[in-house]
Parts: sequence; structure tokens; C-alpha cells
Amino acid sequence: MPSSLHDVIDQTLSLYDGLFTQVRIDRRLASDLPSVRLDADQMKRVLINLVDNAIEATDKKGTVVISTEFDRTHGRVRLGVADDGPGIPAEDREKLFVPHFSTKKRGSGLGLAIVNRIVQEHQGVIRVEDNRPRGARFVVELPA
Ligand SMILES: Nc1ncnc2c1ncn2[C@@H]1O[C@H](COP(=O)(O)OP(=O)(O)O)[C@@H](O)[C@H]1O
Ligand SMILES: [Mg+2]
Repeated sequence: MPSSLHDVIDQTLSLYDGLFTQVRIDRRLASDLPSVRLDADQMKRVLINLVDNAIEATDKKGTVVISTEFDRTHGRVRLGVADDGPGIPAEDREKLFVPHFSTKKRGSGLGLAIVNRIVQEHQGVIRVEDNRPRGARFVVELPA
């Protein structure tokens, strides 16, 4: 079902209203975003996992930036979740999406494995990069 990714973002972020008083969640949303074929509930789960991780990375006091972008040339929509936490060490990068990999005391390590599966089911890809000037940035790419 073609849906608006921005509606999914709005609905998901409203869940965080008033929950983390020292976290700022900014949106940088594209004005020309086409609709995407997506399962809205599953995509909410993707966002929740990425935003929860981002908030935890900032120790619940930082900035999280949600962005969207339309790559017209490749017919793809990009969703970014960036934080200004410590970032991800190079040696951890390929383990992130493996089930049960966690660096947290009480982490299940399942969040990103689930995210990865849902993104794949949408014929998308996910990657992680360095955020600037600091932190991590997860990028989900979906067919427009
Ligand atoms: N935004 C982030 N910044 C830094 N590290 C992250 C971030 N997101 C995920 N990670 C790393 O990836 C690991 C796996 O994440 P996840 O699968 O969601 O499991 P969990 O959150 O239960 O640890 C985390 O334990 C952490 O080491
Ligand atoms: Mg997690």
C-alpha cells in the first residue's frame, strides 16, 4: 500500500512527546517526497527502534535529527535518523544487524536485527555512517 512516510514519522514521533525532557527531536523533511509502498505499522517499528537507540546513545540528553530526502535519479526515498552520541566504532559496524549483538547492560540486541529484516521486506537497504560533527546516522533507503 502506497503510504506517506511523513505520516508515519509524525505518528511515531508523537509517541515521544514529553517523554525525554532533555532530548530534542528535529525534523528535516523533504517537501517533494513521493509516496512509498510501505507497511505503516512495520515502518513505525523501524523508526521506534532507531529513535530509541539514538536517544540511548545521547544518554537521554542530546539531539536526534529525523530527515527525509528524495533521490530522483535513483527513484529512492531516504530516511535518516542521526544523533550526537559517541558514534559507532568501526569494529562494531558489521555486527550491528546481527541478532543479540548489544553493547548495553540490558540490551536484547534485537532492535536492529528486526529493523534490518523489515527494511529488506520493503526491498530497501539500511546502512550506518558517521554523523557530523559527531554521533551515528542510520540511513534507510526505500524504492519510491
Ligand atoms: N545510535 C547509535 N549510536 C551508537 N551505537 C548504536 C546506535 N544504535 C545502535 N547502536 C549499537 O548497536 C547495538 C545494537 O542495537 P540494537 O539491535 O537496537 O540492540 P540494543 O539496543 O538492545 O542494544 C547497540 O547495543 C549499540 O552498541
Ligand atoms: Mg535497540
